[in-house]
Amino acid sequence: MEIKNVVVIGSGTMGSGIAAQLCNANIPVTLLDLKTEISQKAKDKIFNSRPPLLIDKSKIDSIKVGNISDDFGVVGEADWIVEAVVERIDIKHNIYKKIFNNRKLGAIVSSNTSSIPIKILSQNLSDEQKKDFCITHFFNPVRYMGLLEIVKSENSDLNKINSLKSFCENLLGKGAIICNDTPGFLGNRVGVYAMQVAMTEAFKMKLSIEEADAVFGRPMGIPKTGVFGLYDLIGIDLMADVLKSFIKELSENDEFQAVAKEIPLVKKLIETGYTGRKGKGGFYRMNKENNQKILEAINLETGKYSKSKKIDLGIDTVNLNLLINRKDKYGEYAWTVVSKIIKYASSLVPGVTDKFNDIDEAMRLGFNWVMGPFEMLKSIGVKIFFERLDSYENNSFLEKLSKTKDENFYGERQLYTDIETLGKIRPKSIKVDKNNSAEIHRFKDFNIVEFTTKACALDYDSMDSLKNATDKPLIIINESMQFSAGVNLSYTMNFAEKGDFKSIEKFIKYFQDTCKHLKYSKYPVVSAPSGLTLGGGFEVLVQSNFVVSHTNIVIGLVETIVGLIPAGGGCKEMLWRWSQTDEAKKDPDYASLKVFDIIGYAKTATSPIEAEPLKYLRPEDKKIMNRNSLFSESKQIIKNNSEFTPPDECKFNLSGKPLKEKMIKVLEKLYNDKIILDHGVEVGKELANVLSGGDTTINKILSEDDLFKLELESFMKLIETKKTQQRIKHTLSTGKPLVN
Ligand code: NAI
Repeated sequence: MEIKNVVVIGSGTMGSGIAAQLCNANIPVTLLDLKTEISQKAKDKIFNSRPPLLIDKSKIDSIKVGNISDDFGVVGEADWIVEAVVERIDIKHNIYKKIFNNRKLGAIVSSNTSSIPIKILSQNLSDEQKKDFCITHFFNPVRYMGLLEIVKSENSDLNKINSLKSFCENLLGKGAIICNDTPGFLGNRVGVYAMQVAMTEAFKMKLSIEEADAVFGRPMGIPKTGVFGLYDLIGIDLMADVLKSFIKELSENDEFQAVAKEIPLVKKLIETGYTGRKGKGGFYRMNKENNQKILEAINLETGKYSKSKKIDLGIDTVNLNLLINRKDKYGEYAWTVVSKIIKYASSLVPGVTDKFNDIDEAMRLGFNWVMGPFEMLKSIGVKIFFERLDSYENNSFLEKLSKTKDENFYGERQLYTDIETLGKIRPKSIKVDKNNSAEIHRFKDFNIVEFTTKACALDYDSMDSLKNATDKPLIIINESMQFSAGVNLSYTMNFAEKGDFKSIEKFIKYFQDTCKHLKYSKYPVVSAPSGLTLGGGFEVLVQSNFVVSHTNIVIGLVETIVGLIPAGGGCKEMLWRWSQTDEAKKDPDYASLKVFDIIGYAKTATSPIEAEPLKYLRPEDKKIMNRNSLFSESKQIIKNNSEFTPPDECKFNLSGKPLKEKMIKVLEKLYNDKIILDHGVEVGKELANVLSGGDTTINKILSEDDLFKLELESFMKLIETKKTQQRIKHTLSTGKPLVN
């Protein structure tokens, strides 16, 4: 069945998120609530959301709004009706009655419930109605979270469930996993258990919340919010409700019960309005002292707040084994938490699901874990895991595995989808090379480069891998959250602090050489970004021959924020793109002034649709809703370009001094208006020098190498200044820009 028209009932957090994602997929949708004012307000909120729920704000009016009394007629025209009202069964039952009295025969009806079993939701429906009813459990925020759990019942029409799954996969871009009707389904059952274990063990072992979050975080392949940070983000009161529902739904001897008990400190936080980030604060809070914001952390024993301490475990990448083998309290905490999570997740096989792989994928897509529990087990090693594990009775999965001790028990990944994903083909490819920052894989007759550093920040090694991988067609792609947040600033600062500017120069030169090499090597290079694609990351992309972009990207040249200018070809390529416009053909200074504005303000786009007008992306670059498809689309491009010829070199005619003066006038105005300060002017002048062509005249032809040279010179001048170094240090320690 084709879904051409959707109604979403309930315009709160989830209903509006779902409506926005339908709008992103160009599907007409009507959002109904008790009153039209509520759904209209929700629409306004969608429009103003940050990070934005819409990939193209100009499409907002394809979301219609209304109320359930006057506008219910729209339900009769919908192919899919999604219920996302408050988690109250009486309200949901009333709504279903009304929906089934009005819907088009055969239209799919689903609930977004996170905790009510389908058995109970559908108890008043006829068998015929139950055929078309299911749960579609989206995660918040809907645009950005990959997971969608589709829960079926024994009455569900499987053809319909499958066609809904492919609609949600292909059009809404979700990783859709079909689940059975069990409490919390897959993601929350394991994810919330994991949070509770991490929390209760931190209390038991007397760890501070910063220590727990440092361990139950990046080194484990878990987002850096850890457990207490995540609690604050979700809402401590909401978590309490979720736990109540698990306690009610799960059997008494389920291991979950042991970690779901109410904790007095948590109760007190909720009672006093400390419900997390939406409230006065939570486990962490922001305090103001002498007009300065200070992050504070709660002491789990006393309930008192004090300045939050940064914990450095000295593990910068995901490294579970290093973590659990530490001979200190962190190692002990990590092992206890991880082994309990593995034990619990495996106890759900086969009762909750017979596909353990689905649990791992739900954790990746719904909680942004790098590895699910079974992959953690694989990475620890089966033999080692059992040597350290105390008991596992009544766990048939582990009992079986303890007998075979099969290190290769895992098999294939991402079984929930038919798409040929990067995750599926990686095990089938040959690892050609690996260094500290990237890996090269060979699959059939092409190479894949994956950056592996934190936020995929780039350094000399990243460039080395890219360069070495151009002996075949190349796809630059990864599974981590970001394509690349840009050049590794700590790496650069380490040299600067030692006064070793020669090494920085050598690195930037190598960056330029590599990007040039990507652009002109005889095989095609495809970049397939998702997430942050900033600074140096963008420069790699812009000098690739083809781009396949996920719709969830944040893209742009942001170097000026840290007192630098793009020096890996970013200025050059943007200048080239803008010089191809009709306006630039009429006015020789048009392109430079445009790029001066874009790079000067460090403009970013939060979707390909926003990126095109800035020319960060071109109309011919592919835009893909489902991240899983980035690999297969890139592969197709390589297949279609077996006769590839590299592009011609770009040539530039720039006005030089008079153009630079125009830009300096702009800077003077910004300075006088106090929009920029002293160093802002210095950075702007260097940018002006590059974009005006330096010491040139309009009739002189400049090559790409000439522009690379200008970029490098200006970059080096800036990095040697104290004020740029101050900006970098500030951003590294606070994550925020410094205006100086
Ligand atoms: P919410 O409280 O933000 O929004 C609920 C909306 O339903 C409100 O706008 C309310 O006015 C409306 N509503 C109440 N009764 C109604 C009725 N009779 N007819 C029409 N509208 C009515 O709730 P939220 O967070 O969006 O949750 C909605 C559903 O999604 C719940 O079942 C919840 O369990 C589930 N869910 C929530 C997640 C979250 O992170 N907030 C995640 C996944 C699922």
